[in-house]
Amino acid sequence: MAKRKRRVPAGVGVSSIPASHPPVRPGLVSSQRRVPAGIERPPYASLPGGEPHPPVSSLARTPGELEAMRRTGALAAEVLIAACEHVRAGMTTDAIDRFVHDVAVAAGAYPSPLGYRGYPKSVCTSVNEVICHGIPDSRRLAPGDIVNIDVTVYREGVHGDTSVTLMIGEVDEHSRRLVAETRVALHEGIGAVQAGAAVSDIGRAIQNHAWRHSLGVVREFIGHGVGTEFHSGLQVPHYYDRRHSTVLGEGMTFTIEPMLTLGSPEAAMWDDGWTAVTVDGRRTAQFEHTLACTSDGAEILTRTAAGECAHDLFTEPVG
Ligand code: MF3
Ligand code: CO
Ligand code: CO
Repeated sequence: MAKRKRRVPAGVGVSSIPASHPPVRPGLVSSQRRVPAGIERPPYASLPGGEPHPPVSSLARTPGELEAMRRTGALAAEVLIAACEHVRAGMTTDAIDRFVHDVAVAAGAYPSPLGYRGYPKSVCTSVNEVICHGIPDSRRLAPGDIVNIDVTVYREGVHGDTSVTLMIGEVDEHSRRLVAETRVALHEGIGAVQAGAAVSDIGRAIQNHAWRHSLGVVREFIGHGVGTEFHSGLQVPHYYDRRHSTVLGEGMTFTIEPMLTLGSPEAAMWDDGWTAVTVDGRRTAQFEHTLACTSDGAEILTRTAAGECAHDLFTEPVG
């Protein structure tokens, strides 16, 4: 998700909910994985700092790009489902990274996070109080953890970006509620999409759902245009801000990826420059789809050809 300037958090701190315990700490990051030369790389992946060019693509895709995004989106969904089937308690997040990397590459795709702005791994794994962009490392998943797995793949010149929050073993009641309502919040946001609606309608729908359930809405990371670029010009906040008055049009492609919190949505950054955590240490969950705006709604691009996605298949704890 694109980074935004900090604004006042609209927190709904719930003091009876304990901080996630014990806190997540950085582990060891394994050495850089390779992508075979035959696989088409996004332009940033060949630059030393991985800095993408300033976004230039128009907001709407061509029919040909949209077709490619359907195929790449379906691949992202397949990779995410396969990763979820693979995850077990006791597994390191590095093992998830290796798996996602190998499955993406075997499908002829480049794992978009690898080398993006210097990001060192092929997937993001965000555990418990980690909001997003957790770097896979030697930490083992434990029963009771929740982990967001965020897969982005690049093939046929376009990206597909999707994430799910998985529950590992027996998970406490607050976390279960957080995960379930974050999934619903994504769908409230998707329900606000149609040609002629404003971008701000999406955030309003998500925020209403979150606040109704006493959950916080993270403001520092937002949904984004996606297509030939990983993060294109369009910004999609998950909170209500009427200044985001851009009108949605048919063929516009973007993500919705709400991050909701049990406590305050205020975020802090680890000194790795990536890992965003809640300041109060309480847990957070996220779900993400890549969408295309249609005349009367949204087409979810990050589903398999059979219409499946990890969000629907992994509503119960695994491993
Ligand atoms: N997939 C993330 C998103 O939803 C972006 C990850 S950028 C990375 O926008 F560099 F951290 F991988
Ligand atoms: Co995204
Ligand atoms: Co993502």
